Amino acid sequence: MSNSFTPSNIAVIGLGYVGCVTAACLSSLGHIVTGVDRDDHKVSSVLGGVAPFFEPGLPELVKENVLAGRLSATTSLTDAIKHADIALICVGTPSEKSGNLGLDQLRRVVAEIAQNLPGRTKPLIVAVRSTVFPGTCEEIVIPALGGKAHVVSNPEFLREGVAVKDFMEPSLVVVGGTDRATVEKVAAVYQPLGFEACLVTLRTAEMIKYACNAFHAVKISFANEIGALSASLGVDGREVMDTVCKDVKLNASAAYLKPGFAFGGSCLPKDLRALVYRASRLDLKLPLLESSLPSNESHLARAIHDVLDLPAKRLGVLGLAFKENTDDLRESPVVSLLEQLIGKGRDLRVFDPHIRLEEIYGSNRNFILQQIPHIGRLLQPNVEKVLDWADHLIVAQKPTAEMAAQIAASGLPVLDLVGSSLNKPAPVPVTTG
Ligand SMILES: NC(=O)c1ccc[n+]([C@@H]2O[C@H](COP(=O)([O-])OP(=O)(O)OC[C@H]3O[C@@H](n4cnc5c(N)ncnc54)[C@H](O)[C@@H]3O)[C@@H](O)[C@H]2O)c1
Repeated sequence: MSNSFTPSNIAVIGLGYVGCVTAACLSSLGHIVTGVDRDDHKVSSVLGGVAPFFEPGLPELVKENVLAGRLSATTSLTDAIKHADIALICVGTPSEKSGNLGLDQLRRVVAEIAQNLPGRTKPLIVAVRSTVFPGTCEEIVIPALGGKAHVVSNPEFLREGVAVKDFMEPSLVVVGGTDRATVEKVAAVYQPLGFEACLVTLRTAEMIKYACNAFHAVKISFANEIGALSASLGVDGREVMDTVCKDVKLNASAAYLKPGFAFGGSCLPKDLRALVYRASRLDLKLPLLESSLPSNESHLARAIHDVLDLPAKRLGVLGLAFKENTDDLRESPVVSLLEQLIGKGRDLRVFDPHIRLEEIYGSNRNFILQQIPHIGRLLQPNVEKVLDWADHLIVAQKPTAEMAAQIAASGLPVLDLVGSSLNKPAPVPVTTG
């Protein structure tokens, strides 16, 4: 992407909380913006240089940019997109009674854009900023436009009340699409913010928005449940959470935030059980914390299902302890996985670099020989024995770099349960044209 800034002509469709803030902020970055809304009041308000609702910082931006001639508004989508390079869709996607997302506004706007495409000489990029479920652009927007406009997903992450500040100092800018030039053109719109956009696929962009909102909701519920439990134990929950957040290595960080295998080990399951048990004794309902162990069991069940579905005759399982670099077998989900596979008559061999029967001693050796001898019998002394024998591999623990190379060199099909780099998806977007 070049460093020189080229203003775009942008139609922002929908002048609600997201659209109006987006229109005002984009115009203040130097773009020529026309806001569109079917609501006369919002349009005339913007045209008069007045913000149509309360949002700190918005009145000043609307006034300044209308006066400067960079921001205008209309009820006519046809007029707004006539000279536009980009149509940014910001209409509402309210909940239906079922909880499903209501796409009526989006469908109507896309149909209206489609009607304006025939005879158009200037290319148009349609960017969906409204929150839509993954697959919406591919399944609804692209087909409705009949391939006559490029489509990107450009979700919005602003928070009402600090929306202008969030736009100007973004925490995340995401542009998803299939065409690199188009994605880069939309990302370039935000270039004056000096914040590098994440370029991903369409569905990934749509999913990122949901992941962010789900994460925020889960964080709030987590803090509130810890607060409630703390209060009933006579502890200051705010002090607890303030201190928890001081750990920016394991707590307020990217740690534990990658999809992978189920958790296990000697601490997490035991301590969650104790916490949930004590809360129930206090008559406290903590649905989020209570659901963590069942969620983990569901995740393990999915993995078992996926392994059982493999067209494999000889399964080589890499990893036995609950994570890499330990020989601790307590509550290892791999042990549960293997027991299910053995129960279903699968032919297995297992290797864990830190669990070699001839080398380990003490409680772990006794545990294997006495509690899980059926798994102990499957243990191999080196990875080669597994690679030479298996016709399919299950990676149940993050492999060392050396083992990862051996796995790759084996050419064997791999089911990577831990989401290590073995099955890394191809970089995107990949196509141009
Ligand atoms: N509000 C937020 O804080 C926030 C933050 C991030 C993302 N989002 C998402 O952004 C989207 C918009 O949210 P919002 O809060 O701005 O919604 P909103 O209801 O405030 O605004 C939507 C606007 O679209 C207009 N509109 C609907 N159909 C139209 C049409 N055919 N032509 C022209 N205008 C039309 C409506 O009149 C309305 O002014 C939603 O998908 C929402 O989930 C909202």
